[in-house]
Amino acid sequence: MSHATETRRRRTFAIISHPDAGKTTLTEKLLLFSGAIQIAGAVKGRKASRHATSDWMEIEKQRGISVASSVMQMVYRDHVINLLDTPGHKDFSEDTYRVLTAVDSALMVIDAANGVETQTRRLIEVCRQRDTPIITFVNKMDREVRDPLDILDEVERELGMPCVPMTWPVGQGKRFGGIINLRTQAMTVFQAGSEKRPEDFEVIPLAERDKLVARFGDAFLAAEESMELAAGASPTWDHEAFLAAKQTPVFFGSGVNNFGVMEVLDALVDMAPPPRPRKSVAVVNKEVQEQVIQPEDKTFAGVVFKVQANMDANHRDRIAFVRVASGKYVPGMKLKVQRTGKELRPTSVVTFLSQRREAVDEAYAGDIIGFTTHGGVQLGDTITDGANLQFTGLPFFAPEMFMTVVLKNPLRTKQLQQGLAQLGEEGAIQVFKPDAGGNMMLGAVGQLQFEVVQHRLKTEYDCDVRLEGSQYTGARWITADTPQQLREFENAYPLRMAHDAADALAYLCTSPYDVRLAQERFPKIHFHPLREHAGLALETGR
Ligand code: G4P
Repeated sequence: MSHATETRRRRTFAIISHPDAGKTTLTEKLLLFSGAIQIAGAVKGRKASRHATSDWMEIEKQRGISVASSVMQMVYRDHVINLLDTPGHKDFSEDTYRVLTAVDSALMVIDAANGVETQTRRLIEVCRQRDTPIITFVNKMDREVRDPLDILDEVERELGMPCVPMTWPVGQGKRFGGIINLRTQAMTVFQAGSEKRPEDFEVIPLAERDKLVARFGDAFLAAEESMELAAGASPTWDHEAFLAAKQTPVFFGSGVNNFGVMEVLDALVDMAPPPRPRKSVAVVNKEVQEQVIQPEDKTFAGVVFKVQANMDANHRDRIAFVRVASGKYVPGMKLKVQRTGKELRPTSVVTFLSQRREAVDEAYAGDIIGFTTHGGVQLGDTITDGANLQFTGLPFFAPEMFMTVVLKNPLRTKQLQQGLAQLGEEGAIQVFKPDAGGNMMLGAVGQLQFEVVQHRLKTEYDCDVRLEGSQYTGARWITADTPQQLREFENAYPLRMAHDAADALAYLCTSPYDVRLAQERFPKIHFHPLREHAGLALETGR
């Protein structure tokens, strides 16, 4: 197969939802019907005992929430589909944000009884910012749920884009009769049970209307009417508009009953986009030049969107998850970390199948590969086969809460430093080392991040720490046009200066007013609420 064909048959998407909407269930069914797993219940069953495929970390098992996001690959209709799970908990929104930078589309699962819920709303915001195309799946139609028109209306309002129904439900709850497929103009009849294969469901063409009316009565008539209303209110399907995140196709079904799932799998192949071009920059003579990398470009390039340490207690390794953006990866290839200019020497390179990792034979744009390393790679790093370029768009957000780390046993200082450095590089939390010395500081966006880090320091680095409240409530990354300006600023606020895990300079503040005041005093200093890429800032001195 040619390089371009390999690239075009990739689909890389994230599955997003509010907890309990049915994301795990739908993930499992997609894996099942693509043939990636054999037995239904493999993922769900383990989630019940807090061991879902995606639950790698001990803490996740304990809490039963998806802290880490996971990656699964499947092949369906000759397409390679990469599914990226996103953590459902709001305290890990940064992690989720980064996952969403690694995909070309998103599948949004909505509980038909609850509509668009808070966590979905946050995820939608991120997709909207990036113009990520979204496919919508309205789940749990076998329950007493809301009117489909009502749901559509809400999705439209929340997404800020029109919905185009692809299937339409006939009845709901106890009277759920099935779905009408608008494209094939046929009704698929619902049957409860999780053993059914998609091909087992009975299909009746809409042309046999009398038969449908006789069998489903009022529910069918009502569906016909509401379907007509929906069709009148929504635009016609426009693939280009979907790709530009200007409309979303909507599917109805019941994940737990395997119903309506095949339609989603087909949509991923037929509608979701292949790998898209990505923006990058190159530093040439200290000047930043922008360039767009095409997925078919021959140069291998990828970006680290996630780093995870000790995923498997038996390996005690660190994996850098790389989204391939262009070129082809083959084993033994010489790779360079652009930030440091150093060669990347992984101990292994893996691909993520649904239930195991496997050595990579080859990977193309869209694929996610994992480099096992002992360091030298950070979140946001660009890895290439030598080309001088760095991808942008993987920001770190200024933390909104801070804690001071107090080590209970001072003899463990070295382990603490190592632990914090690694967890900081992973992006599990932001670590700040005050320039004036003293205890390290942790910065987070969500409270739970602190608990995870405290737990991991103990279990993975054998460091018992106490976290104490801090006077700081925010941070801004600091740059200046000249080293002299920067020095003056640092001298003015020696106790407020700190360096983060990527060695970027930050100013710690106690209120937004603080930043305004400092900005007024030093109008030439740049205060950044997010940090794009440390390597670049350092190289250009800006
Ligand atoms: P999540 O990953 O989004 O958090 O959701 P998950 O798939 O774990 O599903 C949450 C609950 O919703 C589960 O029930 C699951 O069985 C149920 N569910 C998923 N899809 C459907 C559906 O189409 N119809 C109905 N009626 N229920 C659905 P649970 O009681 O929490 O777990 P379990 O004991 O059933 O595994």
